Amino acid sequence: MESKITAIAVYAPEKRITNSYFQQFIDTNDEWIVSRTGIRERRFAADDEFTSDLCIKAAKNLAAENPEIALADVDFIIVSTTTADQVMPSTASQVQNGLGLTNTGALDIMSACSGFVYGLVLAKGLIAAGTHKKVLVFGAETLSKFTDFTDRTSCILFGDGAGVALVEPSEKARIFKVVTGSDGSHGKDLYLSQNNNIVNGEQIDANGKIHQNGKVVFKWAIQTVSSQIIKLLAINSMKLEELDWIILHSANMRILEGVANEINYPIDKMLSSIEYLGNTSSASIPLAFDIASKAGKIKQGNKVLMLGFGGGLTFSGVIVEI
Ligand code: COA
Repeated sequence: MESKITAIAVYAPEKRITNSYFQQFIDTNDEWIVSRTGIRERRFAADDEFTSDLCIKAAKNLAAENPEIALADVDFIIVSTTTADQVMPSTASQVQNGLGLTNTGALDIMSACSGFVYGLVLAKGLIAAGTHKKVLVFGAETLSKFTDFTDRTSCILFGDGAGVALVEPSEKARIFKVVTGSDGSHGKDLYLSQNNNIVNGEQIDANGKIHQNGKVVFKWAIQTVSSQIIKLLAINSMKLEELDWIILHSANMRILEGVANEINYPIDKMLSSIEYLGNTSSASIPLAFDIASKAGKIKQGNKVLMLGFGGGLTFSGVIVEI
């Protein structure tokens, strides 16, 4: 059984945080942040607003924007997040309960910024296996609750938000072949831990905040993402020119520019959510999709390559026809 994405919707919290906010407690400025990252604003969830709340609001937006879709028929929920409400119960179970869905499986996945695309890969597999017919794939984060606001190299990057895609069976393949991968030897270069353990032979900081070796991740991202785009096109027997859009995880505008340069692809055909939402990890790809759809850029029949990359380090990519 083949599959397709039937709809995508999002939710971004109301609280807008401009770059000047950070000047209250770290040595930084708008010019540095915009020129080094492309970020002008990000949203922060309210103190009593958690990742499952953002997911539920995104799913309600999906139902409101697509009245023909009956959420009651959803039979599997996947939530990609590195900022779960808690370790147990899963965020997916809280979303299931919050939406009042009674006939669905629920599963969290944790592959950080590549997680939304990993979710699409799993949804495609469930539908191909014939076991499920209506899968909600969420990418959602409340990174602001896990940000180290004393670290000026990372705190300016992160924002909160959620996106959801509905994946259903299709007569013709509209989610094509995928790439997935992991390089755990870089685990210590991007982590969030509450366990005082050793990762890649090094003692990590168990303060429950995000730690990042920005330069290492930056270099790895440009090299890995560029080579995986080429591989993804090859396994699908497609040419770069056949793609209408590329949506990479919005980590940093300079990473997107680096990849565009490396593969010789026009930067204006790379969609992102970085400028006004910051780096929202799992949520960045559906957020970029939604912004571009509402701006009339993505149209029915378009071919879109989506590729997430991040903590693990991990990556996952897919080409879809809308
Ligand atoms: N404001 C002002 N100056 C800052 C700053 C800030 N917020 N953060 C760092 N700086 C300073 C540094 O201290 C350094 O100063 P120095 O030269 O006097 O030592 C200088 O700016 C350059 O720092 P550097 O770390 O080289 O900046 P960079 O260009 O590598 O940008 C990141 C830093 C984090 C934005 C960048 O490395 C990055 O985006 N990495 C990848 C992030 C990513 O993809 N993460 C997630 C994958 S999911």
